[in-house]
Amino acid sequence: MDMQRIPAQKGKYNLQDYDKMRETFSWEDAKKHFSWNETGKVNIAYEAVDRHAQNPKLKDKVALYYSSPDREEQLTFEQISKKSNQFANVLKKHDVQKGDRVFLFLPRSPEFYISFFGIIKTGAIAGPLFEAFMEQAVRDRLQDSEAKVLITTPDLLERVPQKDLPELKKIILIENHNETADKYIDYKEEMESASSDFDIEWVDLEDGMLIHYTSGSTGKPKGVYHVHNIMIQQYITAEWVLDLKDDDVYWCTADPGWVTGTSYGIFGPWLKGVSNVVRGGRFSPEAWYDTIEKYNVSVWYTAPTALRKLVSAGEDVVKRFDLSSLRHVMSVGEPLNPEVITWGLEALNHRIHDTWWMTETGAHIIVNFPSQEIRPGSMGKPIPGIEASIVDNEGNELPPNQMGNLAIKEGWPAMMRKIWNNPGKFESYFVNGWYLSGDSAYRDEDGYFWFQGRLDDVINTSGERVGPFEVESKLLEHPAVAEAGVIGKPHPERGEIIKAFISLNEGYEDASELLEDIRQFVKTGLSAHAAPRELEVTDAIPKTRSGKIMRRLLKSRELGLPTGDTSTLEK
Ligand code: WT7
Repeated sequence: MDMQRIPAQKGKYNLQDYDKMRETFSWEDAKKHFSWNETGKVNIAYEAVDRHAQNPKLKDKVALYYSSPDREEQLTFEQISKKSNQFANVLKKHDVQKGDRVFLFLPRSPEFYISFFGIIKTGAIAGPLFEAFMEQAVRDRLQDSEAKVLITTPDLLERVPQKDLPELKKIILIENHNETADKYIDYKEEMESASSDFDIEWVDLEDGMLIHYTSGSTGKPKGVYHVHNIMIQQYITAEWVLDLKDDDVYWCTADPGWVTGTSYGIFGPWLKGVSNVVRGGRFSPEAWYDTIEKYNVSVWYTAPTALRKLVSAGEDVVKRFDLSSLRHVMSVGEPLNPEVITWGLEALNHRIHDTWWMTETGAHIIVNFPSQEIRPGSMGKPIPGIEASIVDNEGNELPPNQMGNLAIKEGWPAMMRKIWNNPGKFESYFVNGWYLSGDSAYRDEDGYFWFQGRLDDVINTSGERVGPFEVESKLLEHPAVAEAGVIGKPHPERGEIIKAFISLNEGYEDASELLEDIRQFVKTGLSAHAAPRELEVTDAIPKTRSGKIMRRLLKSRELGLPTGDTSTLEK
């Protein structure tokens, strides 16, 4: 494997000497950056917002540059602090207590960021929902978390099946509406009369703060539970990996419905007191380049799926914009193609730094640092303080260049603390002291990690994680569908697309209108990103004798690969 290597960059990076830092760093050192180190009292909202609002040098600094096609707004640290105080008072008035789940089902907007911190200030647990979720996806998450309060818009409220959500006591509507029942709270009205002083709830580092639902290969989405302690690793990685400096303008393109959008779209930059750009509205190459130019974005964190679209948009589009403010670019969520890195060098004049982590890890684990050589196709090296390895299924470490399960030694600060409402599940991720990621990878002799694929059936489409079970379950609800098996099929731009194999109930014919109806059924019932782009009718879905769908077999057949061991196939 004689890949082109991109030399280490020269410059004053926050992490200059990786090897030395690996030797000397301990997580205890990281704690000195926080005020709770002296007081013993913590709240991540204080560290990310209020602390800066109380600092004469930072209080008037723009924390949030918000822009969408129809709205533009800037909020300083002091403004976010006060407004989130007001919102915390609104929540208190409606009986929100420490540990309650308060969910946000909102488009990317300033209100999201204000209410998010309001929730955390009360000691409650925030649960962001991706705005593209449809009824089934919303129901699963609100039911499982037993959310007590939901913050949403009148439009999105239509997708909230309230009759199935007995625990949901209050709904806060951030836009004009016609609801009159006691259950509904008008955001604007209550914010106006709420005080901007609030006694923040001081909590323990191990107290809960955030739940992100994510998909596995089986069962309903799982609530990954994170605690205030996550901030230690978010802070350190914002320093080393995002390489943030006081004057930076930072833009993370991820939606706060996913973990990248909270850990690095909110906490990373704000724990460091750095200005954060949030863009609402749809993707277009012009709008994205324009965002960089308009705000003088210096540090940019995005995803391969978007980068691939920028590549196909062509170099003349890039050339129309002044991107000279950029100094550091990163990517996450899917394998970063070496061709995209090459494009970055030519079109952006920047190295694109791949980073690897997961909802469950809470923060960066394996990354490319600006001060190190990049080996295109490799995710880089574990951050100091983290031990990562390649292990077999029993948790034994494997030698270099051997493929196995990408694993992390348990006990890193940002690690999830449990799976919500699913006792025992958490332990199942760990073997012999190692957290098994479910990704297959190998490590070369120099310690660089190389991603190979998923070991389970989880699908990664345009950087979004989709569980085949969820899609299959939705398909089965359609009257025409008898059986369904769902796989990820490789796709040049989206990484993978969702392909569903279905068999039809008697009386239904394989016709394009029916297939389109089934596709729409998933799209409008579950979510657009989970709707199969390809649907194929087949007589029988291969299953094991115990009735499990053999997705691997469907996939090998689809890709024309050897089908392997089919001895458990139901005859
Ligand atoms: C899965 C986690 C928190 C990151 C955003 C996605 C895949 C993530 C990379 C990468 C190849 C990657 C893995 C991982 N993934 N980063 N740099 N190269 N694959 O978080 O939704 O929890 O998904 O995304 O398969 O297990 P997520």
